[in-house]
Order: sequence, then C-alpha cells, then structure tokens
Amino acid sequence: MKGSPVGIFDSGVGGTSIWKEIHQLMPNENTIYLADSKNAPYGEKSEKEILQLSIKNTQVLLEKGCKIIVVACNTATTNAIDFLRANFEVPFIGIEPAIKPAALQSRSKTVGVLATKGTLTSKLFHSTSENHARGITIIEREGTGLVPLIEQGKTGSEEVEVLLRQYLRPMLDQGIDYLVLGCTHYPYLIPVLKKMLPDTVQIIDSGQAVARQTKAILQKNDMLNTSNLPGKHQFYTNGDSQIMKSFLKDVGVDFSVETKSF
Ligand code: DGL
Repeated sequence: MKGSPVGIFDSGVGGTSIWKEIHQLMPNENTIYLADSKNAPYGEKSEKEILQLSIKNTQVLLEKGCKIIVVACNTATTNAIDFLRANFEVPFIGIEPAIKPAALQSRSKTVGVLATKGTLTSKLFHSTSENHARGITIIEREGTGLVPLIEQGKTGSEEVEVLLRQYLRPMLDQGIDYLVLGCTHYPYLIPVLKKMLPDTVQIIDSGQAVARQTKAILQKNDMLNTSNLPGKHQFYTNGDSQIMKSFLKDVGVDFSVETKSF
C-alpha cells in the first residue's frame, strides 16, 4: 500500500501545478496523473456532468491501484468531492480557492477571486466564503476563456492578456490587495499577472496547502511511502501529449506521458 501511487486528476494540464507541489514535498511518492483535456473546460459544465466526469476519473485511478486521490481541480472539488468521499473507500484531497488565508491577511478587506463558473456557482464555494470571509468584500470573476487558451499552451499570449485585463479591472477599481487564483490552471498565468498587477496586490493559490494536506492524510493513514528511491511518475492525457509535456519541462525528474482514451 505504501508504495502505491498517489492519483491526481484535473480537467487537463492545470493540475500539474498541484502535482509539482506534491512532488516537491514528497519526492519519494509514486504518482499517476490524469489530464481529462478532451472534456475541458469543466467550468462551463453542469454540476451533474462535472460529477460524472469526476467519478469516471476516480475509477480510472482506482483501477491503477492509487492509494489516495487528489482532485487537483477546484471545479471538480466544489461540485463532486462530497459524493466521491461518500462513495469510494480511498481518502480524497480536494482544492478550493484560498479565500480564508486571503481574508485573514487582507488589509484593504477587499479580495478578488478568479475562478471558473462551475466553482463560483457551487454551494461549497458559497459556504466557504460565508464562513471564512465575514466582513470582507469578495469580488468574484469567472475566468471564461482562460482554460481553453491554457490547454492550447497559450499561457503568455495576447489573448490571455486581453481577457485578464477585462477580469481584473473591476477588482483593481475596488481596491483588492489579494487575488485568489481559484483554478489550478491559473498559476501558469502568474508571470503575465505579475506584469499587470500593481505591487500592492498579492497573488495567492492553494497548491502548497493541498500538498501539505495530502502528506498529512497519508501520514495519518500510515500510507506514506517510506522508500528512499525517487518516485515514478506516469501522466495520462486524452488530449495532446506534446502540450502536456510542455507543462512538465522544468520538473527535473523522469516521467512518462501516454495518450490514452478515458
Ligand atoms: N483546473 C480546473 C479548476 O481548478 C478546471 C478548469 C476547467 O476545466 O474549467 O477549476
């Protein structure tokens, strides 16, 4: 069991931002990553469709013997994690927009959240905002169009900048000092965001917190891999494997990418 892989899924390449945090914290863990790029973006789908896709991804990872599943997608977490936890035996780690730390640290008491429609309209997102951001003005924007561009590898494109300028304007006009990246694809936009945002705005995401939580749950269940060998890493995509590889070019360890239909 301890040597079994950590399973990670996302609607596409975005969850590799979470894979990188997990790998950095636990380099001895074996991992299997599923990029459901064929069905991206999840953020524009109904709750029922997101749930069905999340079940399908979970089943693929369980067939491959994963000991824990990291839902490296805010949209899938906020729409499906309760169901997954109730219906499958393995532990699940989810990711939600980092509203709580942003609300705690904000001096202007005004926080921007950029996430998908599926996340922003979910019940879980609303209850988290109500519970952890009392007295804070939250300015939500749907990042429509960003995920398809990132899925094409166009992270630094003019098209991305045009959309971001439009989405950030109302947030900046209202004086945000924290921008929460509520989608695992968006950390790949940080270089562009840094060019566009004033120094007074901090960018925050949940990647490191998810990796720490994954480690804590593995430890608690006595599932942490005790091997001293570097982990083995298998990435599966039902989209373009070259684009998938381009998101992994800086990881510094061996991995394999396979195209697979699922
Ligand atoms: N990366 C995902 C998220 O964190 C989903 C993006 C999408 O497919 O719309 O929300």
